[in-house]
Amino acid sequence: MFDIKVFDGMSTEEKYITMLSALTGLLDNDDSKISKLSNASALINAVVGRMNWCGFYLDNGKELELGPFQGMPACTKINYSNGVCGKAFSTKSTVRVDDVHKFEGHIACDAASNSELVIPIIKNEKCLGVLDMDSSEFSRFTELEEKYLIKAVDIISTKIF
Ligand code: SME
Repeated sequence: MFDIKVFDGMSTEEKYITMLSALTGLLDNDDSKISKLSNASALINAVVGRMNWCGFYLDNGKELELGPFQGMPACTKINYSNGVCGKAFSTKSTVRVDDVHKFEGHIACDAASNSELVIPIIKNEKCLGVLDMDSSEFSRFTELEEKYLIKAVDIISTKIF
């Protein structure tokens, strides 16, 4: 059973540290990649909050393809060099965008999105996909949250791929 109320009253830092241990527990089994990515997107979406989209795009050998997510229906294929996701994937770097309308080439899947954080999933120096998070708030994602979400993606990379 998962009870989101355990996070009530925690500071941002405590909340993220607890999320990392919950994520490790959730992925510490031989479930399929789809099951694990689905649960990871659900946990991150619930704990981080104030997001309208949270999920994965994975390298299918030709482009980035939509994986498990929480939110509205989204574009299913993204060229390696397109959008915020393509930039994070091709540069193997986290991309935090305070205002997506000012990001040249941003792909608008959900019209409600105003800020975005995309973190590459790297294993053995190869980028395998990205975790994409969108919010209707401008400048939603802080440096502190970015730091912990990168750690979450490290756990995902180790436990799923
Ligand atoms: N905004 C992303 C596309 C994916 S959706 O946000 C779910 C981008 O520019 O790459």
